[in-house]
Amino acid sequence: MKPIRKAVFPVAGLGTRILPATKVIAKEMLPIVDKPLIHYAIEEARAAGIDTFIFVTGRGKEAIEDHFDVSYELEDTLTKRGKKAELDGLTASLPGAGDAIFVRQQRPLGLGHAVWCARRIIGDEPFAVLLPDELIYGTPGATEELVTAHSRIGGNLVSVLDIPREATGSYGIVDPGRTIDGMTEVRGLVEKPKPAEAPSTMMLVGRYVLQPEIFARLEDQAPGAGNEIQLTDAMARLIGAQPFHAVPISGRRFDCGSKAGFLTANLALGLERPDIAPALRQQLSEAGLVFKS
Ligand code: UTP
Repeated sequence: MKPIRKAVFPVAGLGTRILPATKVIAKEMLPIVDKPLIHYAIEEARAAGIDTFIFVTGRGKEAIEDHFDVSYELEDTLTKRGKKAELDGLTASLPGAGDAIFVRQQRPLGLGHAVWCARRIIGDEPFAVLLPDELIYGTPGATEELVTAHSRIGGNLVSVLDIPREATGSYGIVDPGRTIDGMTEVRGLVEKPKPAEAPSTMMLVGRYVLQPEIFARLEDQAPGAGNEIQLTDAMARLIGAQPFHAVPISGRRFDCGSKAGFLTANLALGLERPDIAPALRQQLSEAGLVFKS
């Protein structure tokens, strides 16, 4: 079984849900505490053994490429000023020379189309996909959980989270088969089913391990929901032809592509940081905001 070495980060979306913040700043560059969203995704992928980072970008997303480049002046200044912690924070997760590859999706035709844009770089091997605006926080990371499951069972895998039944109408939902060893067979994928019609409460959370055959399914695919080429539709067409399983995430998920999710992630991660939590608690309390400690 081929190991998972490459990960695709689709970052070409327009981020309309969080406008006007995302008018000139890429959604994936919005900070959660002190790191951009995309930085968390890279750390998660690296922890899963990924060594090739493929970004599907679009116009106005140049800051992402700059963020993962060496910043010579800044690093030199921090070194001369003895700011070792800041320097380490800046350089710790940088992809090495040649490890990051950038490809453009010229038109935002949908997530499926964005993944398809990486087909020549992926070639003939299984790969991971991470949607960076979905922050999944915890150890092991969701991608590591998928890669571990892939090493045991192979095929295609999706990360899932159990949600309240009344929420199924907003998400992609798994039609489940048998669960063995924590992995649930995927019999189908249903986009945004009404609660009464949802085949389960297992929601797709934006982490995938896919076989290269997905590209042929994407190649001739018509636009689906929202008139976009949907990854979910192409995955659904692979079911039956190849093994397909769902793996629950053990971490916490924040939908940082929505305003409330973005703010919640900042507070949740800030309150877990020993270096800023005391001041954050104090300032929240001074502002009259009450929370359980
Ligand atoms: P989203 O639907 O969450 O992102 O797509 P969006 O389209 O940027 O956001 P809204 O809905 O308008 O607010 C999930 C992921 O897929 C990428 C996005 O960048 C995001 O990481 N994506 C989406 C692309 O790369 N290309 C697309 O055409 C669509």
